[in-house]
Amino acid sequence: MNIIIINGPNLNLLGKREPEIYGSQTFESFYETLSQEFPQLTLDYFQSNAEGALVDKIQEVGFSVDGIVLNAAAYTHTSVAIADAIKAIDSPVIEVHISNPHAREPFRHHSYLSPVVKGCIAGFGLNSYRLALQSFV
Ligand code: DQA
Repeated sequence: MNIIIINGPNLNLLGKREPEIYGSQTFESFYETLSQEFPQLTLDYFQSNAEGALVDKIQEVGFSVDGIVLNAAAYTHTSVAIADAIKAIDSPVIEVHISNPHAREPFRHHSYLSPVVKGCIAGFGLNSYRLALQSFV
């Protein structure tokens, strides 16, 4: 199975960014562990801070990969464009969050993506990504 992990804005700063919320591990080192843990999956990874680049990537891979694990970060709460892109493609998308947005500020309680994805996993730290990959296995 070909699975791509797509991360949105500021997730390139994992390890440095608000470690009390997001932990102290970089995504690159976590991704290396994941690749070893899931040898049966062909994994790919993309990160962008730009909404349009995320839409472009979803369109590019969304008719060929077997699954997309998407942490759209702050765009989760704002982006009709990313929701429309998810609706337009064939590949199933799992929405993941490191923190539990529902336990945080009210502006994080609404997701434009949740109604159009296959499932949501939030609040388990970086393990949220692992659980999403396990769901594909
Ligand atoms: C996040 C939660 C979002 O509310 C926030 O804007 C992020 C990260 C998470 O993984 O917990 O940047 O998606």
